[in-house]
Amino acid sequence: MRLEVQALETGYGKAQVLFGVDLEVEAGELVALLGANGAGKTTLLRALSGLLRPWKGSVLLGGKDLRGLSPARRARLGLGHVPEGRQLFPLMTVEENLRLGAAFLAPGREKEGYERVYALFPRLAERRRQLAGTLSGGEQQMLAIGRALMGFPRILLVDEPSLGLSPRLAEEVLLALKEVARGGVGVLLVEQNVALSLEVAERGYVLEHGRVVLEGPAQALAQDPRVREAYLSL
Ligand SMILES: Nc1ncnc2c1ncn2[C@@H]1O[C@H](COP(=O)(O)OP(=O)(O)OP(=O)(O)O)[C@@H](O)[C@H]1O
Ligand SMILES: [Mg+2]
Repeated sequence: MRLEVQALETGYGKAQVLFGVDLEVEAGELVALLGANGAGKTTLLRALSGLLRPWKGSVLLGGKDLRGLSPARRARLGLGHVPEGRQLFPLMTVEENLRLGAAFLAPGREKEGYERVYALFPRLAERRRQLAGTLSGGEQQMLAIGRALMGFPRILLVDEPSLGLSPRLAEEVLLALKEVARGGVGVLLVEQNVALSLEVAERGYVLEHGRVVLEGPAQALAQDPRVREAYLSL
């Protein structure tokens, strides 16, 4: 399934944040969305998952226009979102948090969901009865991703999964997302860790002040002098 974003504009109140964003994510592809603080990355993900209403432009999932559909409806159609800041329930266990991600599934698929998540993140399997609030930062991020995977998304939006993680754990989380993409899911990854995300992604977009200013294969972006200067400090 393919996600297509066409000439998307949105913002908050009268403040426009996105000024005509075009972007696409194919099934099985890991795509990096890069940009400085305040560029509009989180705003774009929120507009895609229906948490924020677009002013203009369109979002198509598998050719279907998502205009006016609620976040829940979009989730059922195959759009998963791992929000900025994880948004877990700290006083619920790992497994209870995962179950929330399966809310829209046929009951029979729930077991398959746990198995898939635990295979991807064995640390979560060992801690299934532990309270989410007592997990390490990296484990909490794995749980946030796992919860979104419980809905069997076709397209997964992930907002800054490596925030606050050690380089080793950040790499572990991004490699897990690569694995998710290999399984056929299209992943749109927002990352501050530009070097690492361009290593795992196939393609990337650079957002500046709400506009896509650069796009291309990840290797080409990693070599681009503008990217190297602005995001890789080279
Ligand atoms: N709820 C809100 N109300 C008003 N303005 C907002 C709101 N959320 C974000 N903004 C503004 O929209 C702009 C884009 O913010 P956004 O969170 O999308 O940036 P970002 O690229 O995700 O940045 P970061 O890398 O810091 O997460 C910023 O100027 C921000 O202040
Ligand atoms: Mg953000």
